[in-house]
Amino acid sequence: MQDILIHTDAGVTTITLNRVAKKNSFTSAMYAACADALDAARDDATVRVVLFQGDATVFSAGNDIGDFLGAPPKTQEAPVFRFLRALAAFPKPIVAAVCGPAVGIGTTMLFHCDLVYAGDNAAFSMPFVNLGLCPEAGSSLLVPQMMGYHRAAEALLLGDPFMAEAALEVGLVNRVVPPTEANAVAQSQAGKLAAKPMASLLETKRLLKKGHLPEVLARIDEEAASFGRMLGAPAAQEAFTAFMEKRKPDFSKL
Ligand code: COA
Repeated sequence: MQDILIHTDAGVTTITLNRVAKKNSFTSAMYAACADALDAARDDATVRVVLFQGDATVFSAGNDIGDFLGAPPKTQEAPVFRFLRALAAFPKPIVAAVCGPAVGIGTTMLFHCDLVYAGDNAAFSMPFVNLGLCPEAGSSLLVPQMMGYHRAAEALLLGDPFMAEAALEVGLVNRVVPPTEANAVAQSQAGKLAAKPMASLLETKRLLKKGHLPEVLARIDEEAASFGRMLGAPAAQEAFTAFMEKRKPDFSKL
């Protein structure tokens, strides 16, 4: 079974995270597949919209923690950073359907999506500090912009999860629906977008993002440099080892 499924129909490319047994955590190969799919969708004139979805129980548990230990991203060309740049700069509309846990990049990637529909079981979290890491995907810039500084600090420093209704309140999601309906609602909205004039969609998204994109891309790179360095440091190594050993991390000496 492939971990990423890609399907194009009626102008909508749907990218399905399909590693449910591991809570759709992202491996390097999955980032590479998503980055390639975005590049192909950008260059294919018949594709008008991209849709990301998981299933009704889980969107994504973030980066595969075994990969963080065994195959951490070492350069800016690593698949995760290629995916993030492709996502941030993607010129066509992106829709997401999110149910269940959306951890780490499972939440931060949503700040680059244009429309987000959440199941009422969606739980968003950015536990980078709990993992000895720092924010990624431009989230140190985009989260305070959207949520306000203090809510951003709570989400990013404490790493506390927040649920679908709170995400709706701050504007991270457009609508909260029953989990079994989220993918269909997102597909329907993507279909509406795909029926609109392409030049207007492209120009409107370009204008919406224009003021931010250079700053967002620069922040993604700055965060990536710190994140890459911190992955190998003792705090992160302890957090990852603790996760693999199914125990609580011990940061008392770090
Ligand atoms: N990397 C690798 N494996 C992961 C994973 C991750 N990020 N998240 C979950 N898994 C694996 C678990 O190890 C477990 O594997 P096993 O069945 O072989 O033991 C399986 O997926 C199911 O996970 P489990 O923790 O039992 O599910 P849950 O429903 O109790 O909890 C989460 C779901 C998402 C809350 C929990 O798995 C979690 O916190 N994951 C880590 C999230 C994280 O810190 N991600 C990194 C962000 S930068």
